[in-house]
Amino acid sequence: MNVLVTGGAGYIGSHTIIELITAGHSVIAVDNLSNSSRESLHRVEKITKRTIPFYQIDIRDKPLLTKLFDENDIDAVIHFAGLKAVGESIQKPLLYYENNIDSTLELLEVMTKHDVKKLVFSSSATVYGSAPIPYAESMPTGIGITNPYGRTKYMIEEILSDHSKSDPSFEYTTLRYFNPVGAHESGLIGEDPNGVPNNLMPFVTQVAVGKRDKLQIFGNDYDTIDGTGVRDYIHVVDLAKGHLAAIKNSKPGYYAYNLGTGEGMSVLQLVHAFEKASGRPIPFDIVARRAGDLPEYYADATLAEQKLGWRAEKTIDDACNDSWRWQSQNPNGFVTIN
Ligand code: NAD
Ligand code: UD1
Repeated sequence: MNVLVTGGAGYIGSHTIIELITAGHSVIAVDNLSNSSRESLHRVEKITKRTIPFYQIDIRDKPLLTKLFDENDIDAVIHFAGLKAVGESIQKPLLYYENNIDSTLELLEVMTKHDVKKLVFSSSATVYGSAPIPYAESMPTGIGITNPYGRTKYMIEEILSDHSKSDPSFEYTTLRYFNPVGAHESGLIGEDPNGVPNNLMPFVTQVAVGKRDKLQIFGNDYDTIDGTGVRDYIHVVDLAKGHLAAIKNSKPGYYAYNLGTGEGMSVLQLVHAFEKASGRPIPFDIVARRAGDLPEYYADATLAEQKLGWRAEKTIDDACNDSWRWQSQNPNGFVTIN
């Protein structure tokens, strides 16, 4: 298949392109590089030994997006492009609604005009809000979401569902990611956040490499195994393979699947696993809970296994080893030395 990957220079997009190419698909990447670097795709080309056609455009720009579709015969779209920082979305809600929702609407319109009917969308476990754990796809979504970022994901899911009802020949698959961690085993690509990382794993790796002094653990008084927050950490390569399974099993209608491991892990457990993998101590302070954080959630991961034949294979030790290889080989991320 000829697959257009929006947000293809980003963390999950770049890893997914490798899996698509390895499985024999052709890929076109589009990204405005607002939260990524051209270098990540150069590294993907190095890993796959293939040239990846790349369009540096904002997908809200309908004429340019139309031109891209005119120039390429696209069979399917994997839609990663979007802004994803929870805290920033609270400060700048309009930016998030505008970027994430407008870009999706433009994309759907251009796809419809070009008769491209297969789409896989990057959603998040955050759509479950404060549902009971483990989160299952049969549960209601949209209730108790704590931030505008999460609401854009919920709203886009609703848009896809409504659109598929209006024309049942569209094939829409929503994938609800739990907490992506890890990196490609080559150490050439990985997560490269701008500024201070919001998420746990990149913060931990930056402490290990000496870029930050200490981790702050947001609360140790939750009702969890050791008082720290519990999440379902999924290796980004497993996640990338979930997109292959979604494309392969795509069918008319609207379907949503969790992509998680089905296992919860606490902040302290992750820190200790990372210390073991890296051989570096991770100094930390316990500080107040972070506003909007839930104590504990993880996936019911059975539906994706039943319907897509996919399940997570890699362990948290794999994720820690791979994150550390990426961070230690690239202490400043995708800095190009010319
Ligand atoms: P990322 O920021 O690394 O990748 C997203 C890419 O989209 C970036 O390269 C950015 O430059 C690009 N982009 C943003 N707006 C664009 C626009 N208007 N036009 C063109 N390109 C645009 O993030 P990621 O971690 O790879 O996440 C990919 C997707 O998965 C996002 O939609 C994100 O919300 C979703 N998601 C991520 C996580 C996570 O923890 N990483 C969890 C759940 C869901
Ligand atoms: C956040 C987002 C979610 C998104 C996910 C992607 C919310 C409220 N949050 O989830 O939308 O899909 O990222 O991975 O929707 N922690 C620390 N110190 C740190 C950073 C984190 O103790 O410096 C703790 C947090 O309190 C939490 C755990 O580590 O218990 C994981 O945090 P994080 O990586 O930010 O992800 P989430 O909050 O689960």
